[in-house]
Amino acid sequence: MKSKLVVSHINKISEVDPRLYGSFIEHMGRAVYGGIYQPNHPTANKDGFRKDVIELVKELNIPLVRYPGGNFLSGYNWEDGVGPVEERPKRLDLAWKTLETNEVGLHEFYEWTKETQTEINMAVNLGTRGIDAARNLVEYCNFEGGTYWSDLRKKNGHDEPFGIKTWCLGNEMDGPWQIGHKTADEYGRLAEETAKAMKLVDDSIELVLCGSSNSQMPTFGEWELTVLDHAYEYIDYLSLHQYYGNHKNDLQHYLARSLDMDEFIQGVVAICDAIKAKKHSKKTIHLSFDEWNIWYHSNERDKAVKPWQVAPPLLEDVYNFEDTLLLGCLLITLLKHADRVKIGCLAQLVNVIAPIMTNDDGGAWRQTIFYPFAQVSNYGRGQVLRPMIESDTYATEDFAEVPYLESIAVVNEEANELVIFAVNRSEEKMDFTAELNGYQIKAVKEFTELAGFDLKAVNEEGNGAIKPTPSTNYQINETQLTAAFAPLSWNMIRCEL
Ligand code: AHR
Repeated sequence: MKSKLVVSHINKISEVDPRLYGSFIEHMGRAVYGGIYQPNHPTANKDGFRKDVIELVKELNIPLVRYPGGNFLSGYNWEDGVGPVEERPKRLDLAWKTLETNEVGLHEFYEWTKETQTEINMAVNLGTRGIDAARNLVEYCNFEGGTYWSDLRKKNGHDEPFGIKTWCLGNEMDGPWQIGHKTADEYGRLAEETAKAMKLVDDSIELVLCGSSNSQMPTFGEWELTVLDHAYEYIDYLSLHQYYGNHKNDLQHYLARSLDMDEFIQGVVAICDAIKAKKHSKKTIHLSFDEWNIWYHSNERDKAVKPWQVAPPLLEDVYNFEDTLLLGCLLITLLKHADRVKIGCLAQLVNVIAPIMTNDDGGAWRQTIFYPFAQVSNYGRGQVLRPMIESDTYATEDFAEVPYLESIAVVNEEANELVIFAVNRSEEKMDFTAELNGYQIKAVKEFTELAGFDLKAVNEEGNGAIKPTPSTNYQINETQLTAAFAPLSWNMIRCEL
């Protein structure tokens, strides 16, 4: 099968905002306790954080981590997580029916982000709490000193402000499962007033308004229109969440789920722009896709988890080879919308639907999906070029034309590098041509493929066989590159310009 990607230096989508490669740590399951934090682990640093996990997180090159939830957020008192650890309350976490010890809170998590060279994307509770707790938290985190909350931060050991720039106004407030679930009008008004107060404390912060929990929500569309209508003036981003799964065990249908993500993004962009026009506003709202991933492998197992434990294993999806192909398609889809999607958070980071897994009594390892994410996060930096694709297509029940080739190119002018990411959705070998108008290719620095594995094969502790391997199946000729893509493969080609 033949396929073609055509790009041009005069047709760029946008510069990639590094925050597109963010992730998410929620106080749930073994994400925090037994994931990033385990003081009795042989690799623990002086603060109790696992160094083996820190090293893997650094490999992912994540600029931003959303924290502390998730559904957990909507019942969380941030004050429980500051001050002397021995005085912190143990609480019921109603969202996940577990116990929260509050051993890790704001200061500890901040220290972890320094170790992992990332930043916090802080979320405020708009479920059980509201304006007061949110504005106090901004004062605690970002105000220099000389006030009650900023001085309390100093007393608790952090003299300098944390300087947190990106903030989420609650989590999935449209969802009936959410503690403090609200109608669009209720949430829209609360978010508006909370945002106003938070920006009065620190007008340099950026705020994310909750969009729908997923595109199948019955209120999707109406929710966005209403909440934006209320809060447009004070917010900067609207959130999207979506998880996918191969529920039907139908590979071609599964690999086409990225077209669903594409439609979702297009729909939300249209709504943001409709409200912009209605309000005669000069301001453009960007998108924060702050929960996205594959989530379905652990659904059955989680039904048997006993309630009210500290850090039980929850949502521990073990990812297989076919998941890497969809994850690659989803990453390419996010890049195609780099002009509007500025923040992305792979949900989540460690143990809970995560690229990194740990064993309490053992090591930490890379799940299969670690690899496409790490490659795009590390090398998908710069300007995204608008892709024109020539490819055979197939039909699913949802989409009439799913191209076998999914591909994008990102040019990093500082590094003189142009990187092509591509998924071959077909079970046949693909003869791929890239026409890179305006770019002279000097050499291929690296061509790796993730291919040839059993679709259901997984990585486990001590057995990480599923990973990219180098390929030499390419040729270059000035502005043209040809390559052979293996059947069902994820590919990355880094060209020196
Ligand atoms: O990431 C797991 C959960 O999925 C989050 O807590 C919630 O926001 C979403 O429904």
